[in-house]
Amino acid sequence: MTASSQISPSDGPTPRAGDAHVTALARALLDWFDSRERDVAWRHERDPYRIWVAEVMAQQTRVGTVASYYARFTERFPTVFALAEADLDEVLHVWQGLGYYARARHLHAAAGQIVERHGGEVPSDVEALRSLSGVGPYTAGAVASIAFGVAEPAVDGNARRVISRLFDLERSTPARLDTLARSLVDAAVDRPAEMNQAIMDLGGSVCSPRRPACGDCPVSSGCRALAAGTVALRPPRREPRSSPIRTAASAVVWRDGAVLFVRRPERGLLGGLWDFPGTKPEEGPVAPGDAGLVEELRDAHGIVIAPLEPAGEAFARIRHAFSHFHLELVLFETRWISGKAGSVDDQMAGSATGYAWVTPDRFEKFAVPAYLRSPLRSLGQGAR
Ligand code: ADE
Repeated sequence: MTASSQISPSDGPTPRAGDAHVTALARALLDWFDSRERDVAWRHERDPYRIWVAEVMAQQTRVGTVASYYARFTERFPTVFALAEADLDEVLHVWQGLGYYARARHLHAAAGQIVERHGGEVPSDVEALRSLSGVGPYTAGAVASIAFGVAEPAVDGNARRVISRLFDLERSTPARLDTLARSLVDAAVDRPAEMNQAIMDLGGSVCSPRRPACGDCPVSSGCRALAAGTVALRPPRREPRSSPIRTAASAVVWRDGAVLFVRRPERGLLGGLWDFPGTKPEEGPVAPGDAGLVEELRDAHGIVIAPLEPAGEAFARIRHAFSHFHLELVLFETRWISGKAGSVDDQMAGSATGYAWVTPDRFEKFAVPAYLRSPLRSLGQGAR
């Protein structure tokens, strides 16, 4: 872009069609996008279903990390129909490691809706996309523009940063970002997919949060924050949310060489994953000891257990950061004495009953929260 583009500080008015600043930005962004190869695993993909899966995975996860999960997921569930027909349990298992499991639950539910409402074809219409489970403005805009060439913006975290800087926004409200992103997409005429992805790519590389490489930026001459010296202040920081510590106790219950897994309720934190039975996380930095654990096993699961012992050193205390709280989990080991929850012989009854007795050689077949993986490895090594 040329140095003659006007630069005026403003949060301000909506750019009109043909606005010289926006037109010059759009042209420079597209030229830059066309001149580079970025390794986004699904960039050459044309199948709307696969584009949708990739865009859901890429939320809250780095593009580079998505590649192997994307390959595994689309191999196992190659079509909307395959995903809609699959067991949620298996979907969660294939998703395991990506975190934010609500995304997987929504994908699964939305696949069912696409089959029911649209005969298995991912819709191109933004409103129809928005009505699917888990599909917000970003996913709808990304799928509509990338898969179908619809002129819709797609503002993810990277795009928010790029646009806040290019237009030097003091307040990056979703409405303002949408308006400005839309003006760039409109200025790109029939290339909305490329424009949205150029903005995302710029945010994922040159226009990084802490050390933007403004010297390498294809739109530096039109960047109003650079001209105003406010790059480091854009986008404005969101108020950090305070993240309380919550503590809980869980039990590793042994029975004939197997350990009891319980399935978490489908709605709520880590919904549908398998876990050790335990108390609910409660606020307070002090470890709760085994308070309430024996009662929880008896009252919530109908199981009587032998006295609790602290679990082995390697995994006695687990810390995990969720988006809205820090969990400190204290683990105990014990033996089953009596109660329901099926038997060890009938391991796969678990899917239906929500209980499974699992021998260590089968631990990895169950979708579990990330923080249990290391304890499960240790337990497998020292199995009783
Ligand atoms: N991040 C999420 N989706 C992306 C895409 N399609 N291109 C670049 N970065 C992305």
